[in-house]
Amino acid sequence: MNLFYVTTPIYYVNARPHLGHAYTTVVADVLNRFHQMCGRETYFLTGTDEHGDKVVLAAKAEGMSPLAYVDKISELFKALWPELDIEYDQFIRTTDLAHIKVVREVLQKIYDTGDIYFSEYEGAYCFGCERFYAERELVDGRCPDHKTIPEVIRESNYFFRMSRYQDWLIDYINTHPAFIRPERYRNEVLAFLREPLEDLCISRPKSRLQWGITLPFDDRYVTYVWFDALLNYVSALGYPDGALFEKFWPTVQHLIAKDILKPHGIYWPIMLKAADIPLYRHLHVHGYWNVDESKMSKSLGNVVEPLELKSQYGTDTFRYFLMREMVFGLDSNFSDKALIQRINSDLANDLGNLFSRSLTMVHKYFKGIVPKGDRASESNLDLKIKSDAGRAARDYRAAMEGLAFQKALMAIWEFINRINKYIDVTAPWELAKRKSQRKQLQIVLYNILEGLRIIAGLIYPIMPRTAQVMCEHLGMSTPQNFQTLEDLNVWGKTQAGIKLPKTITLFPRIEENKLQSSSQETTPSKKASASRKPDIPMDVFQQMDLRVATVVHAEPVPRAKKLLKLKVNAGEERTVVAGIAESYQPEDLVGKQVVIVANLKPVKLMGILSQGMLLTAAEGDTCKLVTVDGPSKPGTPLT
Ligand code: MSP
Repeated sequence: MNLFYVTTPIYYVNARPHLGHAYTTVVADVLNRFHQMCGRETYFLTGTDEHGDKVVLAAKAEGMSPLAYVDKISELFKALWPELDIEYDQFIRTTDLAHIKVVREVLQKIYDTGDIYFSEYEGAYCFGCERFYAERELVDGRCPDHKTIPEVIRESNYFFRMSRYQDWLIDYINTHPAFIRPERYRNEVLAFLREPLEDLCISRPKSRLQWGITLPFDDRYVTYVWFDALLNYVSALGYPDGALFEKFWPTVQHLIAKDILKPHGIYWPIMLKAADIPLYRHLHVHGYWNVDESKMSKSLGNVVEPLELKSQYGTDTFRYFLMREMVFGLDSNFSDKALIQRINSDLANDLGNLFSRSLTMVHKYFKGIVPKGDRASESNLDLKIKSDAGRAARDYRAAMEGLAFQKALMAIWEFINRINKYIDVTAPWELAKRKSQRKQLQIVLYNILEGLRIIAGLIYPIMPRTAQVMCEHLGMSTPQNFQTLEDLNVWGKTQAGIKLPKTITLFPRIEENKLQSSSQETTPSKKASASRKPDIPMDVFQQMDLRVATVVHAEPVPRAKKLLKLKVNAGEERTVVAGIAESYQPEDLVGKQVVIVANLKPVKLMGILSQGMLLTAAEGDTCKLVTVDGPSKPGTPLT
């Protein structure tokens, strides 16, 4: 098939773009560029998801209207992608009129077939998540995210009859092994489907939520979340009769992380089936990026901003790190240290040194003019380097097609090492000493340049700028910015006789002690005002072990702007990580008596085990510590 259509999730506009969003979008760009190299015509869609309560709340917190707010955040995403050299074809917003029209048409179509019905519903509703929970989804009767007991509410709403399609979907997934990849996520979806599938509530009454798309068959309601968002993948192409839809939809491949597997693996295929739209070809699911072993979150203040990484380390190196470090499908850990190590060892040492070392030799021995290779006089070593190149290109292609970016890069780096060895063994500096070996020297340097040309071609989807710079320094013009895979399978495309520009340093080394420990987050996080929590019996409260503790030592936590690491004496010494760095300086805390929850299950925050929690009065971003009214013995229990 000579067409390729790739999508990213459309990102919520209630948060600024971060490392996680950047990863999926870079993957889409890498795949898009790779498929172009394979000679395919491609289409790449990304965008923003702009309806729902959370957006209204976020807008309120910023004192803006929802529309002004979504315009602002959507623009942040839109402006970020070119900074990371992401070349999408279309940026869709769910507030686009054309999208809204399609959502209403599809809703009407499914309503007409009888798969959307009106019903009263009573269920456990978590206001934090803005959704109903089934009994079995709760953990000890509590919301798994907010740990609160959901309220039972009764509401009339519209439902999508998903249950009807359960057996069909199981059968479809079983007969299409590549539908959801990697396999662990396919198995996860099949495991979901072992439980009875409940119908999906797709509406919210306007009395509760205004910021959405009005249902075409009942204007007292708006559609809610997934019916709006998922349809972007077809509305963007002008469904039902747009030319783009006809051309690209049959080839669609979706990229997502594991957080939205259920909507994409279950709701979406069923929606497509119910609306009589052909199913997507593949759903590719990746894992989560953590930061210094902790989940990235606003409340920890450890959200990694792509633009900061770009300005500190450069776009190509950042893209390389993302693709090299994460095994697609598994979780991965981000740290500056790991990034710097990759830059220094893989990029500056292996590739950068090979490149400058090779070009320096061409300048030294041939005045910068590409020497002529000579097939007739090649040795076994010369033949071997050619077959190594062929193998690298084959392994790379297979890995890229399977989204195994890490393996694809390993195949390239194996080839880089082989060229480095080839140089060591053939020792051009020795050959240069004798006139009689001039021909051999020519062959060796020509082969090295050819190897570099192939490397420049293979790294292009991941590091397009470096590929371009390498090509320019190898005396090549690549009219479309890239060499096709076919070009990379042919040996001998480097033109002899061309004068090459002086060599350059592709990747400057980064000194590790330059590592900054600043947080990446720049937005103030505004908490919505605390909602009233449900009553609890006395014995539940009495399970809490509250104690007076004296702060013995305090220090900042690298990369987490909001956290301090405290040593406290609570009868015995323990470490507590507290989110109070924006309100207190470490030196102001030593000697202070605070109140801690001493029997909270220890948790790791940014790699540090926190054995308790400080009590504070929190107002927006600032907080005040709860203290006792006079000196108390450390460890004194609060009653
Ligand atoms: N709006 C929905 C998606 C609708 S698609 C029809 C949504 N938006 S989101 O802003 O929360 O984005 C979720 C996606 O962002 C993930 O699926 C993934 O692509 C990316 N990531 C967000 N955090 C991530 C990590 N920590 N790690 C990796 N990717 C993550 O869900």
